[in-house]
Amino acid sequence: MENNMCSLDYNVLNELRLEGCFLDVIICVNGVEFPAHKNVLCCCSPYFRTLFSKRWNSTEKMIYDIPGISPDMMEMIISFAYTQTVLITSDNVKQLLVVADQFNILGLLNLCCDFLESQLSVENCIGIFKFAYYHCCPELCLRAFKYIMYKFEELVKESQEFLQLSFYELYDIIDRDELNITNESQVFHAVIKWTYHQKEDRTGFLLKLLSKVRLELKDAQLFLDDVKNSEYIQDNEEYKLFFYRALFQMIYEISMNEAIGPQSRCSLAHARLPYSILLSIGGWSDSHPTNIIEAYDPRAKMWMDVTCEEETPRAYLGTAYVKGYIYFIGGFDSVEYCNRVCRFHPVQKVLQEVAPMHSRRGYVSVVILNELIYAMGGFDGHARLNTVEKYDSETNQWTLLSSMNERRSDASAATLHGKIYICGGFNGEDYLFTAEVYDPGIYQWSMISPMMIQRSGVGVIAYKDEVYAVGGFDGEDRLNTAEAYDPLTDSWRVVSSMITPRSNFGIETMENLLYVVGGYDGFITSAEVECYNKETNEWKEVADMNVDRRALSCCVLSGLPNIREYAAHREPLESVTLSAEHKLSPFYNIPQV
Ligand SMILES: *[C@@H]1O[C@H](CO)[C@@H](O)[C@H](O)[C@H]1NC(C)=O
Ligand SMILES: *[C@@H]1O[C@H](CO)[C@@H](O)[C@H](O)[C@H]1NC(C)=O
Repeated sequence: MENNMCSLDYNVLNELRLEGCFLDVIICVNGVEFPAHKNVLCCCSPYFRTLFSKRWNSTEKMIYDIPGISPDMMEMIISFAYTQTVLITSDNVKQLLVVADQFNILGLLNLCCDFLESQLSVENCIGIFKFAYYHCCPELCLRAFKYIMYKFEELVKESQEFLQLSFYELYDIIDRDELNITNESQVFHAVIKWTYHQKEDRTGFLLKLLSKVRLELKDAQLFLDDVKNSEYIQDNEEYKLFFYRALFQMIYEISMNEAIGPQSRCSLAHARLPYSILLSIGGWSDSHPTNIIEAYDPRAKMWMDVTCEEETPRAYLGTAYVKGYIYFIGGFDSVEYCNRVCRFHPVQKVLQEVAPMHSRRGYVSVVILNELIYAMGGFDGHARLNTVEKYDSETNQWTLLSSMNERRSDASAATLHGKIYICGGFNGEDYLFTAEVYDPGIYQWSMISPMMIQRSGVGVIAYKDEVYAVGGFDGEDRLNTAEAYDPLTDSWRVVSSMITPRSNFGIETMENLLYVVGGYDGFITSAEVECYNKETNEWKEVADMNVDRRALSCCVLSGLPNIREYAAHREPLESVTLSAEHKLSPFYNIPQV
């Protein structure tokens, strides 16, 4: 009986309403009458419950005039009360949300919030954020806020709403650690663009805003090169002049401040939070396998130790980040080559063992395609493997697929445009030139043009529409050379060489750069890291890891809600209150992550 109390048959009730049976109330809006059942309206909205409870005992049919709402909206509310469904469109959603809020109809409010969230775009996110803030939709408000933070760069380029921000709003946005920008010149441009848009009224705010650009004088040259070459300075001479005056003022202010003494304005403590971090996982260190995990914070330019202590040490493993979990696959644990697979949830910080692979695989190649993990080749302790299996996290099962043409251990693989490419490796006798591609549509491997050089312990990664094969061992030397494969022409081209030769390193791409991490140069195991930029065809040194490692694996995590726990330590920002009015700005009241 209790269980069924609430499951009213809404179809029957709606039929009764449409047939005019047992109606006991009339809701009147601007002279339009809506006959209904009190019970149904009370179930839907505490507003009606309070309204009716005053004269509940009376048996006569009551008319209630409801002010402050249109007949159209009341029609939708009553229809929602009877059917639990409603047609939400971009035209009616805001009005409907206001009404749902006013009549305290939680179900409808949630539907409206979900709809608005699905509509978030660079053009409307500021508007939706403020709307959600003023109508008490805390979840939508936070989502829209995150959207603004993540898409700030695009927002500055494209959004009209951005130009309409108030001074306090812009100030609070650019004051945030979470702002997703690769460098501070983007903040500078944002400030100039916003100020110039209404320069008579806004120039007075310029210095206060520019003080939020997190620039140190020692980085000024880089910053200057960046801003003066940018597309923002168009052919508008007046804008240019305005721009340079602001730039000069800002640099002058910074130098004055820095002359006064140590100050926190731009130090590491205030580097923005990264949107993505690069993990270097496990490997061979100090003559045994390790479980160390370090995270590279590309804003602070530092590696942090984020080891998960429960994970067993492994080298020559594969890793994959799928559906919120980091998988540690196969490898060598100092006793045996393993088929064990574990996964770690970087938010909940829980480690679990999942189904093992069919084969033991050290020196394994691992990729992700369509949210499935593929483990290819490797060494099981006896033989080099050509077998391939894939893992589906939904079913927790590994399935064997057709084998590769070659046995490959110490190869490396990547996915590009829906296909898997695996290159090089060692078959037990030869260091391999060859490479092959797997098409999941036809479940088959086929050979592609071989690389120019034999590469085992190579790093393979998809980067800007090509498959890169970097470094490795050709049977004699560790290599610093790199080449890239274009599937359209089935050919390899030479790419600039790394600064240091290495094999058995970690490789990943993050924020348009290709990173190589640690490895072995033939003499020593390295903690050195470098990154390649296709735009400049150049390799640059990146901060060293804290621990020398080879036979490690890398993966990239993006958009973590607890990114602070993986990033370099930053002192929490003190929020500065500029005035009483400032406290009323919606952006001021969003808590720091
Ligand atoms: C954050 O910025 C990076 C670098 O510009 C970009 O690749 C990434 O897509 C941004 N994040 C989101 C969620 O848009
Ligand atoms: C700063 O960011 C802009 C826009 O993304 C980019 O064009 C520029 O190359 C970056 N500069 C540096 C020094 O990374």
